[in-house]
Amino acid sequence: MNLEIKTAKQKDLPWINGTYKTIDFLPSTLQDEIVAIAYADGVKVGLGRIALCGKDSCELGGIYVHPDFRGKKIAKIIVEFLLKHAQNDVIYCIPFEHLSSFYESFGFTKAKNDLLVPMKIKKKLEFCKKTYSEPTLLLVMHKQNTFKIIL
Ligand SMILES: CC(C)(COP(=O)(O)OP(=O)(O)OC[C@H]1O[C@@H](n2cnc3c(N)ncnc32)[C@H](O)[C@@H]1OP(=O)(O)O)[C@@H](O)C(=O)NCCC(=O)NCCS
Repeated sequence: MNLEIKTAKQKDLPWINGTYKTIDFLPSTLQDEIVAIAYADGVKVGLGRIALCGKDSCELGGIYVHPDFRGKKIAKIIVEFLLKHAQNDVIYCIPFEHLSSFYESFGFTKAKNDLLVPMKIKKKLEFCKKTYSEPTLLLVMHKQNTFKIIL
């Protein structure tokens, strides 16, 4: 299987939002966000996104892989692609609880819903609580800038 990850374009929006609709995920607009699409032998089989949520922060989410293609590390490759493209210092993620170790393997850690958390993330947490029967968690990652010079 040839797997490729590409950044979504406007023409991909109907497929993106058609897919998200089937799993009750919020739609994408491609404004202030990057959507990554996974192609297996040229066919769209998965996606994920990072969206701005504050001045220096973004949210990783919307990770989905078609049932026929699960267990092949496609979600892992999508997350790695998105983290590489994230320009922000702080990255939030609100996954289903049973997937916490998957996200923690990238460096996410559990976070408190305190004053530092952007309003957009607080609202998303409320949305998740209301919408999904499965419990969700708030995770955060601080991107290390390895080229930072400390004087
Ligand atoms: C969750 C989902 C994206 C995983 O996709 P996938 O391509 O099969 O995942 P991968 O093959 O990349 O597996 C990555 C890791 O997640 C773990 N994982 C995958 N599905 C899991 C599940 N249902 N429960 C617990 N762990 C799971 C795998 O064991 C793997 O861990 P490992 O690297 O230690 O072996 C996919 O099942 C899906 O689309 N589910 C419906 C939408 C969803 O729940 N999205 C996530 C929202 S937080």
